[in-house]
Amino acid sequence: MSERGPAIVIIGSGFAGLGMAIRLKQSGFHDFVVLEKSEALGGTWHDNIYPGCACDVPSHMYSFSFELNPGWTRMFAPQPEIRAYMERTADKYRVRDHIRFGAKVDSMEYDDGARRWNVTLADGGVLTPKAIVSGIGALHVPSFPDLPGIERFKGTAFHSAEWDHSYDPAGKRVAVIGTGASAIQFVPRVAEQASDLVVFQRTPPWIQPKPDVAIPAPVRKVFEKVPGAARAFRGGVYWALEARAVGFTIDPRLSTPQEKIARRHLEKQIADPVLRAKVTPGYTIGCKRILLSNDYYPALTRPNVHVETSGVAEVREHSIVTGDGREHEVDCIIYGTGFKVTDALTDLRVTGRDGTKLQEIWADGIEAHRGTTIPGMPNFFMLLGPNTGLGHNSVVFMIEVQIQHVLSCLRLLREHGADAIEPKPRAARRFNDRMQRRLRRAVWNEGGCSSWYLDDKGVNRTLWPGHTFEFWATTRKADPDEYLLTR
Ligand SMILES: Cc1cc2nc3c(=O)[nH]c(=O)nc-3n(C[C@H](O)[C@H](O)[C@H](O)COP(=O)(O)OP(=O)(O)OC[C@H]3O[C@@H](n4cnc5c(N)ncnc54)[C@H](O)[C@@H]3O)c2cc1C
Ligand SMILES: NC(=O)c1ccc[n+]([C@@H]2O[C@H](COP(=O)([O-])OP(=O)(O)OC[C@H]3O[C@@H](n4cnc5c(N)ncnc54)[C@H](OP(=O)(O)O)[C@@H]3O)[C@@H](O)[C@H]2O)c1
Repeated sequence: MSERGPAIVIIGSGFAGLGMAIRLKQSGFHDFVVLEKSEALGGTWHDNIYPGCACDVPSHMYSFSFELNPGWTRMFAPQPEIRAYMERTADKYRVRDHIRFGAKVDSMEYDDGARRWNVTLADGGVLTPKAIVSGIGALHVPSFPDLPGIERFKGTAFHSAEWDHSYDPAGKRVAVIGTGASAIQFVPRVAEQASDLVVFQRTPPWIQPKPDVAIPAPVRKVFEKVPGAARAFRGGVYWALEARAVGFTIDPRLSTPQEKIARRHLEKQIADPVLRAKVTPGYTIGCKRILLSNDYYPALTRPNVHVETSGVAEVREHSIVTGDGREHEVDCIIYGTGFKVTDALTDLRVTGRDGTKLQEIWADGIEAHRGTTIPGMPNFFMLLGPNTGLGHNSVVFMIEVQIQHVLSCLRLLREHGADAIEPKPRAARRFNDRMQRRLRRAVWNEGGCSSWYLDDKGVNRTLWPGHTFEFWATTRKADPDEYLLTR
């Protein structure tokens, strides 16, 4: 089954795919389709429906710059509100009709002769666009820990990104594995219901107070009615968050005040010295994502909650045995163990020019030119590609910069009457070498922790090493000298 179909295929309908679709339309490109494997749009904000799910970057910043939402009800909006914002935005900019739901892309192959891509879907359908924009995200393949006996467990078990709302934890004995950004949001909710909750912590996170307040109706009115108010507020949030990048990327010692804030928060919320010691991190703040919460530490102090640090030695049919030989009877295990970040990209079956596979290009690690384009992959663009993630600000900002880069490449194609555009290998090499040199001295490498930011060789393939305005200044416009155009 083959159909020629539209000129541009966008994969995914999260912030990246949605933003790309809107910007394409606004720029006069109407011949495109968005392929989405789920039955609804939203990506992260469609999948993650665990209790307590919310953003941890203030909502006025964690949203599109071209679609400010004066109506955010909280500083950090909960998941349903973010999802509703995305749905509304899709309708307002009339891109919903471009989205094909239930359309999972299986593989992509470049046809040198036709100068078109063959995009094969899971149902066997084939589209042949001129260009592909991948907005598949990095946090959508749940990671389950490789625990001995895990398959023998007879109780209920699910991952935070696949929350089972049919399961009622009330009065049950629940185990949570992991203490990352997801877990610290749902642990307080589960702790209120479960009869016993054991939190299996491998590495304690640094946690700061969450300045999360309801935004009163009169303030929302000001954001709505006073010209420039919402944008000025967004600007303030942006610069406050940018200040954090200094410690991350220039010198971790500059993050000492951040560490003090987190330490004081911990001491204020946990009085028991034994529990305090258990949850005090032993690495430099910022090495792993700094978490924000006002209710996680108090949840750990509840009489029905226990923090277990001796590791999981074995999972049995109805229990978990810890490293020191103790057995915890449990009815349910909730995995807050994160995502297979690099797999989400390396699992993509992409074959570029001359039959070269993306896996071959990435044999030594994933990388892209300006996080967006890859030598040997003509007219192939990645949003939130390698090294465009952030530890300090909203990735929606990064996505928007990359969208501008893609549009700029499409304009170059048009202006030069060319069929294909791809980065020059030397330009891509120079960009990545320079970036990796900077990353070597950043907190993520030097901070004394291991995290999903680093690949199995210890190389940071996920984060941008500087300020986001640097990325904006250097990336939003494609430099014709860095690209090969083919007629
Ligand atoms: C719980 C949670 C909270 C977060 N909070 C924040 C925050 O506060 N601030 C922040 O900056 N970041 C946050 N993040 C990171 C978040 O992932 C990004 O901010 C952003 O939502 C990513 O958008 P995206 O469009 O790139 O990817 P996604 O939202 O993951 O969307 C990708 C889409 O592509 C689809 N897709 C994937 N593969 C295929 C395929 N083969 N075929 C068809 N469709 C496919 C998926 O179904 C999905 O809809 C959070 C992440 C999680 C998990
Ligand atoms: N807006 C938000 O507030 C928010 C909420 C959720 C997610 N997010 C985003 O999504 C990303 C992923 O968050 P996440 O919490 O889902 O995942 P995560 O940050 O990767 O955390 C996973 C947790 O599971 C633990 N873990 C993993 N494998 C384990 C094993 N085999 N045994 C024991 N423990 C194990 C990890 O311990 P170690 O630390 O020791 O590896 C860590 O505590 C975040 O970094 C953030 O970017 C943001």
